[in-house]
Amino acid sequence: MKIIAYGIRDDERPYLEQWSQAQGIDVKAVGDLLDETTVDLAKGYDGAVVYQQKPYTAAVLDKLAANGITNLSLRNVGVDNVDADAVKRNGFKVTNVPAYSPAAIAEFTVTELMRLLRRTPTFDRKQAQGDLRWAPDIADELNSMTVGVVATGRIGRAALKIYQGFGAKVIAYDVFHNPELEKQGLYVDTLDELYAQADVISLHAPATKDNHNMLNDAAFAKMKDGVWILNPARGALVDTDALIRALDSGKVAGAALDVYENEVGIFNTDFGSFDAVPDERLKNLMRRDNVLISPHIAFYTKTAVKNMVQYALNNNKQLIETGQAENEVQF
Ligand code: COI
Repeated sequence: MKIIAYGIRDDERPYLEQWSQAQGIDVKAVGDLLDETTVDLAKGYDGAVVYQQKPYTAAVLDKLAANGITNLSLRNVGVDNVDADAVKRNGFKVTNVPAYSPAAIAEFTVTELMRLLRRTPTFDRKQAQGDLRWAPDIADELNSMTVGVVATGRIGRAALKIYQGFGAKVIAYDVFHNPELEKQGLYVDTLDELYAQADVISLHAPATKDNHNMLNDAAFAKMKDGVWILNPARGALVDTDALIRALDSGKVAGAALDVYENEVGIFNTDFGSFDAVPDERLKNLMRRDNVLISPHIAFYTKTAVKNMVQYALNNNKQLIETGQAENEVQF
């Protein structure tokens, strides 16, 4: 059995080598991501392990299939970058890693919220300028707030527990109700109810056709004045222009965004200076003390990276050996 793994970073390599040695399976690690320029490297392999940073377009998937590879294992959760029609047309078997570390993303999300509420970015900036005064940067307390969790999959539930640990009141919205949360009576029936009640909105939904730019002008208008927005999920969930308007008007008190609508090619890149970052809307957000931009790093822990690599390789091996895998995604 031969597996090719695309987009392997240096921090992933030791986990890949560990797996390959333990399993006695040859894994070719390629630094470049899977795209039209690299797809032919897969010729002769039985399966490909990839991760989301670029779209897996119909053209790429058609070529991959023409090269004889239809076992595709993503090392991440989200599958919104995969062309569903090309998957079905070519008979691809696709797996993801649904739970490499929900806690990693949940802990980061709450960390960012606490930084916003306690104004630590402002105090850090003032301190660097020799200003050690308190006012006017008086903080807010999470324990007296209502947090609205949008989507209660593994990550949403992990975040929810941490919010509850801080003493916050938590409400949740999801079309699928988790039985445990249902028992706790946390669900509201509509997003509008969540918008009306929440002081903090914590987004944990995958990107779908139906929720594209769900936080738009109309949604912000339904929220409490001074709401805090957290998006560690997918950039497409938030209409960036609408968010900027809501920040300007004070409707939104602040936001922590680990994802951004146009992040591909920008996040995880060193541009050398702030000015060289090639996206004016992103820089508009980055300049604000009450907006925390992080370059899609909520997932980026040692535990998560190890699990992403090794679970994805296990999935790919299962697909190659049996034509099925536990974490198969239905398109
Ligand atoms: C995911 O697992 O879907 C993430 O957002 C992590 C990223 C490496 C693509």
